[in-house]
Amino acid sequence: MTAIVEELRRGRNLPEAALKELIECADYDEELFRQADEVRRQYYGTDVYIRGLIELTNYCKNDCFYCGIRRSNTQAVRYRLSRQDILECCREGYALGFRTFVLQGGEDGYYTDDRVCEIVSDIRAQYPDCAITLSLGEKPYESYLAFFKAGADRYLLRHETADETHYRKLHPPEQKLSVRKQCLWNLKKIGYQVGSGFMVGSPYQTTENLISDLRFLQELEPAMIGIGPFIPHHQTPFGEYAGGTLTLSLRMVAILRLMFPYALIPATTALGTIHPQGRELGLKAGANVVMPNLSPVKVRRLYELYDNKICTGEESAECRGCLEKRVASAGYRIVTARGDVACKSRRE
Ligand code: 5AD
Ligand code: FES
Repeated sequence: MTAIVEELRRGRNLPEAALKELIECADYDEELFRQADEVRRQYYGTDVYIRGLIELTNYCKNDCFYCGIRRSNTQAVRYRLSRQDILECCREGYALGFRTFVLQGGEDGYYTDDRVCEIVSDIRAQYPDCAITLSLGEKPYESYLAFFKAGADRYLLRHETADETHYRKLHPPEQKLSVRKQCLWNLKKIGYQVGSGFMVGSPYQTTENLISDLRFLQELEPAMIGIGPFIPHHQTPFGEYAGGTLTLSLRMVAILRLMFPYALIPATTALGTIHPQGRELGLKAGANVVMPNLSPVKVRRLYELYDNKICTGEESAECRGCLEKRVASAGYRIVTARGDVACKSRRE
């Protein structure tokens, strides 16, 4: 059982068949999780970084079949945060020890480049010791460049699936995988710390698709990799589809930790949604980041990408305290440092 896991850890490029076995077969899990935790401790000790997530807007011009805030969901109640709202979230977050703010939202034309730059430069000026992460979807090169110059450091854009045929089953034809990938390359070129990732157990996903995801990430070498189970949202075309499982999600976290020892990997809210201890288990499988919500409580329920999302009623301070306990119970420790990516050369 240990040979394949060991190979993966040594950075050998596992052949297709070996990867497939690792992804499909529970026999490796114990060894996989043990070694993933070892690697994570080697690179990051017991540190867990916290990112304050601010959900700017649930307006979105896209129509991803899996997502609750897709434009065709006419039942979604839409909202936008103002610059003042956002700065207030940062103020509250800073006091709670957050040194990274993640501004995430649907692709909403209201947030023009000028508006985004204004918000970013305000945060940059008020919190020079904080990292600013954007997660605002696909934009032209020039927009990404402008945000970067305004003071943004990092950008999250999951590729969702690296397989062309699978991508087309999850998105309408006007949304192109090639464009999404180009956005990621552009972000890298500009100098962002880039985050990508995918959903586990999305409709029609095969093991081969997951292997393509891993291969694409090997090419991209992102600083951050976010994955979580697909969870159906009842007002979408995938409302009746099965969700991704905890086991497969954890297994993929562990595989990612072994393949990308230096990466920042969150134990995602989606993982916490499908199991009461999902995030703790994610940390034990190799994750080293948690991203509690800093959005105003009045809008939290509305940023509903999937059903039954956790933490929609709690104040930011409650989530902060709750996570402190959860992280400790898993055997790790929240640190308030900015948490930039570890140096790759630390690799054995
Ligand atoms: N289930 C799980 N994750 C989802 N996302 C969007 N919709 C869902 C869903 N139904 C993820 C996507 C996106 C991120 C912000 O949330 O991967 O990139
Ligand atoms: Fe939000 Fe536990 S993290 S309530």
